[in-house]
Amino acid sequence: MTTANDTHTSTKSARPLRNSASAPVRSEAASFAPPAEQPQRRGPAKRYTPTVPRVVTADKGPAKTLTPRPACAHGNYADYYGKRSTRGEWVDRRLPLLEKSWIEGKNVIDVGCNAGVVTIGLAALFAPKHIEGVDIDPTLVRKARARLALRGSLVKMQANNIISLSDDKTPVEAMDVDDESLASALPSRQDLDYFPTSCPSLYGSMPVVEHDEYRGEGTDNSDGAGLFPHNVTFRCGDWLHEPNPSRAEFKKDVIVAFSITKWIHVNHGDAGLERFFKRCFNTLTPGGCLLLEPQLFETYRKAPVLFTRTMDENVRNAKLKPEDFESYLIETVGFQSVEKLGVPENRAAGFKRAVYRYVK
Ligand SMILES: C[S@@+](CC[C@H](N)C(=O)[O-])C[C@H]1O[C@@H](n2cnc3c(N)ncnc32)[C@H](O)[C@@H]1O
Repeated sequence: MTTANDTHTSTKSARPLRNSASAPVRSEAASFAPPAEQPQRRGPAKRYTPTVPRVVTADKGPAKTLTPRPACAHGNYADYYGKRSTRGEWVDRRLPLLEKSWIEGKNVIDVGCNAGVVTIGLAALFAPKHIEGVDIDPTLVRKARARLALRGSLVKMQANNIISLSDDKTPVEAMDVDDESLASALPSRQDLDYFPTSCPSLYGSMPVVEHDEYRGEGTDNSDGAGLFPHNVTFRCGDWLHEPNPSRAEFKKDVIVAFSITKWIHVNHGDAGLERFFKRCFNTLTPGGCLLLEPQLFETYRKAPVLFTRTMDENVRNAKLKPEDFESYLIETVGFQSVEKLGVPENRAAGFKRAVYRYVK
């Protein structure tokens, strides 16, 4: 609330009057006389500099001016994987921390899927029955769909126009990776990259056909074949504010929530984060798991994003810190167990974050 003392107003009448004795007196005619001829400056027009909004940060110091990047306020970076991935690798380094049996034949949702790299990697390598990537940013969802169409066009086709990669694990040497543990989790590159990218570039991508029987509606999981790329769909939505799933077919066996808690926390505060965790729990089938990669609290303010006043207050008032997630998820939300899966290698220290598996 502003008080009269807080508000500094300056009006014309408040300006100190000139000392009439010392001030030169100008006649009315003089005050309307045309200005003395100035040499005409014909230099380049002055560039317009837009005003950068000023944002007050948590500390009491002077207001800080940040470069506005409102488009990334949800962590929806356009080139997230360009920064995150090691050059030449197309498989995200978090995937080898996961066991194929957790995903294979299961209904999975990747919340905050960005451009779909993790979603597509999981779909191709771990053969879920169906995986749905959801992101709040429509541009990223379009990118994810385009990526799926491209990757789906490179895989080896079988007679029924569908390929199952589930049993095909092979060679280290076929992959562009320098890490054996990573490569051993992968199927053969010969099958995944059977066609060169010049094929879809020249002739267009193969259509990705959504088969109802792979969408987990009305079928049991036993025949979940993981038929990439037809086991993937992407959609745009604010997952936090969608209604809770109650019908069995909307439940998921696995929720992937990588690098999203910070953005939920920053935008919606403790209340939003609690809602997010409870929603994860309610969405899961009994025995289902939440694969969680939380960001550290110290990184919240490092984001190159324009913080609004609300975001700033959310961070300042945060009580449910990432170090408390484990006790909160087990004792309050109701997960049965938690396992730390490891910390993936990454050249950028900021991406060396632990991944956890919470079981309902
Ligand atoms: C930092 S990126 C992480 C991307 C991906 N999960 C990964 O780790 O590779 C966070 C993503 O979450 C998305 N996101 C944030 N809030 C969301 C919400 N309420 N619903 C859906 N997506 C959201 C952002 O648009 C962004 O693409």
